[in-house]
Amino acid sequence: MFSLRRILTLALASVACARALDVRQAANTNPSISTIVDHLDETMRHAGPTILTLMANQTLSDATLQNQMNTIGAAFKNVTTGLAATPVSSGSTTVMPTDDDIAITYSDAMQLVSASLSGIVRNGKAPSFPAMVATLDPIMAAAAKQFNTTLPNSLSLVAIMLRDAGQFLIAEGFNQTFAAIGPITAPTT
Ligand SMILES: *[C@@H]1O[C@H](CO)[C@@H](O)[C@H](O)[C@H]1NC(C)=O
Ligand SMILES: *[C@@H]1O[C@H](CO)[C@@H](O)[C@H](O)[C@H]1NC(C)=O
Ligand SMILES: *[C@@H]1O[C@H](CO)[C@@H](O)[C@H](O)[C@H]1NC(C)=O
Ligand SMILES: *[C@@H]1O[C@H](CO)[C@@H](O)[C@H](O)[C@H]1NC(C)=O
Repeated sequence: MFSLRRILTLALASVACARALDVRQAANTNPSISTIVDHLDETMRHAGPTILTLMANQTLSDATLQNQMNTIGAAFKNVTTGLAATPVSSGSTTVMPTDDDIAITYSDAMQLVSASLSGIVRNGKAPSFPAMVATLDPIMAAAAKQFNTTLPNSLSLVAIMLRDAGQFLIAEGFNQTFAAIGPITAPTT
């Protein structure tokens, strides 16, 4: 018969073993992370210009904007789901795709969001825009937090890259996203 003490000792040993395994298994999952983030950026490279075209060709409305906002929301949700299912990366500063490569792509996607939406309020043809932003904001904030978790500290470069775009995020009402990215130094202009 095992004594209670022996069972506890075995249990503690197996916990220690599992921890050691975690550390040993920490791998560079940057290629998987990069695939997910690239997909987001590709989506934004379509949605961003489409939003600008809707304004330019005077077909912007709540309905046409909502379609694009739905696409953007689905893409960021997909990032959260995909990254949450990806093991935390040990990262790499030398092997492609590097941590910086991926963070720069993520920043590009976010800049496309803030830039393509920056004329919507002035345009005046989509009065439901603030409600759409209120829906998208927590989705983008969650994706940013997950990104920083799966690729540890990746947001530090994103915050630097968004120094200029950050003010548009606030102007557009993406307050949770802005807060999630962390301190952004105001651009000195
Ligand atoms: C979700 O991301 C995967 C790649 O990570 C992509 O194949 C899939 O099309 C994406 N779905 C959406 C809705 O963006
Ligand atoms: C306006 O642009 C949108 C987005 O590219 C396009 O789907 C739509 O057909 C265009 N409408 C007109 C009237 O040009
Ligand atoms: C990102 O993750 C790092 C740890 O890897 C943490 O120190 C930092 O505070 C996080 N940044 C944000 C904005 O949450
Ligand atoms: C976002 O933050 C700005 C600046 O702090 C504030 O004026 C605005 O009311 C906030 N918007 C929302 C939707 O909370």
